[in-house]
Amino acid sequence: MAEDLLSQLKQMSTVVADTGDIDTIRRFTPQDATTNPSLILQAAQQDNRRARLAEIARHSTDIDDALDAVAVEIGSEISALVPGYVSTEVSARLSFDTDATLTRARSLIERYDRHGIPAERILIKVAATWEGIRAARQLEREGIRTNLTLLFSFTQALACADAGVTLVSPFVGRILDWHKAEWPDADFSGDNDPGVKSVRRIYEHYKGHGYRTIVMGASFRNMGEIQALAGCDRLTISPALLGELAETDGRLERRLVPIGAETSAPEPQDEAEFRWSLNEDAMATEKLAEGIRKFTADQRKLETLLAELRKT
Ligand code: E4P
Repeated sequence: MAEDLLSQLKQMSTVVADTGDIDTIRRFTPQDATTNPSLILQAAQQDNRRARLAEIARHSTDIDDALDAVAVEIGSEISALVPGYVSTEVSARLSFDTDATLTRARSLIERYDRHGIPAERILIKVAATWEGIRAARQLEREGIRTNLTLLFSFTQALACADAGVTLVSPFVGRILDWHKAEWPDADFSGDNDPGVKSVRRIYEHYKGHGYRTIVMGASFRNMGEIQALAGCDRLTISPALLGELAETDGRLERRLVPIGAETSAPEPQDEAEFRWSLNEDAMATEKLAEGIRKFTADQRKLETLLAELRKT
């Protein structure tokens, strides 16, 4: 009997919901859930949250306090519905400030603790800039788990593994977006998809060198990308694509299989090497910068919404 693709995928990869939408999480019963500033904005704009958000806005000391309170409020609701990790992102504005990222991440963990949610359940999401990766290394030493996001290059993946982060989120769809814009007539379907190739390379490198960092493919544009990465440690998937997978029957073939560690880890890169290789990669450089700008833009929209609600 044919089984739907989502049920089969759950047997090969840990399925994560890429949303702050409670109904979606209830419907698809993922193990974990991921949010980002854009997803928190979407969740915050839902009518049923208006009264509670107004209350938060009125009781906050300043706008940063209000933003974090909202992220933790939504994250806490999600944590009651998933058994695993909930990812909450630090302010995108801090992407180039290690110390400020550390302060904000510790504060998010304290807030979760006040909601009765232990640090083991939370992944603090940080942009995979040099400064973000330095902050993540320190947070991991303090027992705070991290999810390194906006990851577009192998260089970023190497630095994250060296830093011993809990999880990386290599983006698939935004890499495809860039390539399609550059080469509109090229065939990037199936195994030709440059985002899929990027995740496979990172996965094989991590497994081949015995890194424990979890690889979670993110940012998908179509079901084919997810099918091509079946077997990856984790896959964080939008509500629309979770729906498509659940409604599609057929055989899902496992594409990523962990190989045993064959060689020891390469020498860590220093800051100059990291910055040089990232700069050599036009796609990763542009997408990382754009990703930070877009998350900041959505954060500003949430700030405006909270400022309005504060007056009500
Ligand atoms: C999840 O961690 C990412 O923030 C998310 O998958 C990004 O997806 P998008 O490229 O569709 O915005």
